[in-house]
Amino acid sequence: MLEAKIYNPVKIVFGVGCVREVGKYASRLGRKALIVTTSGGSMRKHGFLDIVSKSLEEHGVRCAIFDGVKTNPTTEIADEGTRVALRENVDVIIGLGGGSAIDVAKAIAVTAASGGSSKEYLYIYGKQPGKALPIIAIPTTHGTGSEVDRYAVLTDEERKAKVSIVSDLIYPRVALLDPKLTVTLPPRLTAATTVDALAHSLEAYVARYGNRMAQIYAVEAIKEIFGNAVKAYANGKNLEARARLLWASMLAGLAINIGRTCLPHALEHPISAFLGIHHGEGLAALLPTWIKRGLKEKIFNNLAVELGLKDADELYEKVVSLLKSIGMNVRLGEHGLTEDMVEKLVGNAWTYLTPLIENNPYKVSREETCKMLLNTI
Ligand SMILES: [Fe+2]
Repeated sequence: MLEAKIYNPVKIVFGVGCVREVGKYASRLGRKALIVTTSGGSMRKHGFLDIVSKSLEEHGVRCAIFDGVKTNPTTEIADEGTRVALRENVDVIIGLGGGSAIDVAKAIAVTAASGGSSKEYLYIYGKQPGKALPIIAIPTTHGTGSEVDRYAVLTDEERKAKVSIVSDLIYPRVALLDPKLTVTLPPRLTAATTVDALAHSLEAYVARYGNRMAQIYAVEAIKEIFGNAVKAYANGKNLEARARLLWASMLAGLAINIGRTCLPHALEHPISAFLGIHHGEGLAALLPTWIKRGLKEKIFNNLAVELGLKDADELYEKVVSLLKSIGMNVRLGEHGLTEDMVEKLVGNAWTYLTPLIENNPYKVSREETCKMLLNTI
């Protein structure tokens, strides 16, 4: 019988130019904002930081900037941001960037209000925040979905555990999705972030503990990704394709917020934590072998049919060919993965990411996951 639990309080604003409304929304939430963004300088170079700070100023909101976020951010980086938030006495946090920036913004929102280190709130340590500062999320990639979900993924350096803070308190109050902010994404990141959104949709659709609502979001997201990934990869300035992909990654975020991810994300997190590669590239390496192993499961067939394909085999072919056409036929051997590392990475997944392994539609043994990883070398 149909059963579902659905909760999502994020106000979603989508459209070209909507980033300029950030001041209006921030002024309803606080008087001083911390803008959390990446360290590479692209947010400054492309003028996004200026647009945000100008809009805040126009609405009487003062601001401070923390631009120390790196790919696969650690809890230390988030805590560094929290020190800035406390020193500057801010009362609203704005995440501007890809998933890393938004996730660090969420962690800062928690620790600035609830105290302690962001590490304590990772689900493997079990502490839940009592409160969090309000968050505004402005994604500049079309992959994460973090702007509409209750997860903040951080790496605990000590254990090399790339896991989440999971709390209803870290849903952004407002997500501003402006497709114009994604047109400057270079081709490799365009492809990698798109694969992340694709993985979110595929995984949430087949997830053991998902529901029909997650599937509805996922199907729509996959259709948009199949129809627009190559266009945006070939011509980054194609605003229509970018908008469709941003829309898809938002839907995929709504889908994983309900169904969560499963085996590909469980195996990928140790990969990017140890190899330092982009999350989407790790997923690209894993998706074909994961779908292939699931071909006899009815759920993959159901998905294929909903997408207008003949069967799960055709879905597999379609994903493999899409990955190829956007340069994402990734072999992890080229990124430093060797056979003798496989046991350690798989052990990490089975220690820290078991909820995602259990959410997989088909049961896998530890040995089987080793083989899947060996397949990616
Ligand atoms: Fe992801």
